Amino acid sequence: MKKIDVLVTGGAGYIGSHAVVELYNSGYRPIIVDNFSNSSIKNIEGIEQIINNKVVFHEFDCTDEDQMNELFKIESNIEAVIHFAAFKAVEESVREPKKYYCNNIGSLEVLLKTMKRYKVNNIIFSSSCTVYGSPDILPVSELAPFKKAESPYGETKQLCEKLIDKSDINSISLRYFNPVGSHETCLIGDCSADKPNNLVPIICEVASGKRDSMQIFGNDYNTIDGTCVRDYIHVVDLAKAHVAALNHILNSKKIKTAYNIGVGKGVSVQEVVDSFEQINDIKISYKIGPRRAGDVEEIYSDNSKINKELKWFPIMSFGSALKTAWIWEKNK
Ligand code: UD1
Repeated sequence: MKKIDVLVTGGAGYIGSHAVVELYNSGYRPIIVDNFSNSSIKNIEGIEQIINNKVVFHEFDCTDEDQMNELFKIESNIEAVIHFAAFKAVEESVREPKKYYCNNIGSLEVLLKTMKRYKVNNIIFSSSCTVYGSPDILPVSELAPFKKAESPYGETKQLCEKLIDKSDINSISLRYFNPVGSHETCLIGDCSADKPNNLVPIICEVASGKRDSMQIFGNDYNTIDGTCVRDYIHVVDLAKAHVAALNHILNSKKIKTAYNIGVGKGVSVQEVVDSFEQINDIKISYKIGPRRAGDVEEIYSDNSKINKELKWFPIMSFGSALKTAWIWEKNK
């Protein structure tokens, strides 16, 4: 049977590369478009090793209308787009907001225009729990309002969801909580040029000796042990949610919706550090530092909507996420 073509923007990135593997394994034909501005060919090689086959990829810039036109001309059977391509360093977005508006919103605008021109009617968008800001009710459900974004990065996620809502194509926005870990082979992962800002990659750098020590940002929050609480989702579970969303969108006549992608359980920063030490049998040197500006005290997902509607459930353990994150760091 002929495979369904799915365009994956940012398919060489951390989450994109994991999604490409799951799409391929589920019988789709993923077509990667990436300009490698913040990813690496290493992930393409890793994908090919995992699937034991070649993967289709085009080195194009999603903000360039001419290039996107050319891409849709070459790949004329695309039925859906999964849009990962975006910048994601929260702190950088505060320093260089324009870079984030131009790239993250600009690429979506070009994509929506090109999809319309080539009559591609389905989009799955990489969103983030950052759209909720600091939620009033926990666990946070998709019904919670968008609060004032904590950063320009967050603003771009909110604006992109709104742009997609206004368009007349079918859409599913997936609001990721905190993705962690790597594929079991540890052949793909985060290759971005950004200095890591996220907790687990920083812990890995301390473990490897790239950093001497790290800080836990604040231990005076109103949480179980005073440190911030997040919902850490294994990147392979997250990747599989894209397959579930794709199956659903292709079987729906008209759809516009959003789903939380999280485990539904809060874990504190202190618990992450302690679990990493225990699982990987390695000591992490850390100090308690001041709170980080813009941090939300506690956020974790209500994932019942996607459980019920798409029969998606997280199955990977937090321990395996911490193990594979560490092996990926050593393999990099
Ligand atoms: C942030 C963004 C989120 C984005 C995600 C992916 C906000 C509010 N959230 O999530 O929208 O999708 O990054 O890039 O901007 N921590 C330490 N020490 C460190 C690093 C982190 O204690 O050296 C703590 C943080 O204070 C936080 C937790 O670890 O409480 C997780 O931080 P991080 O991995 O950066 O993710 P978020 O801030 O939750």
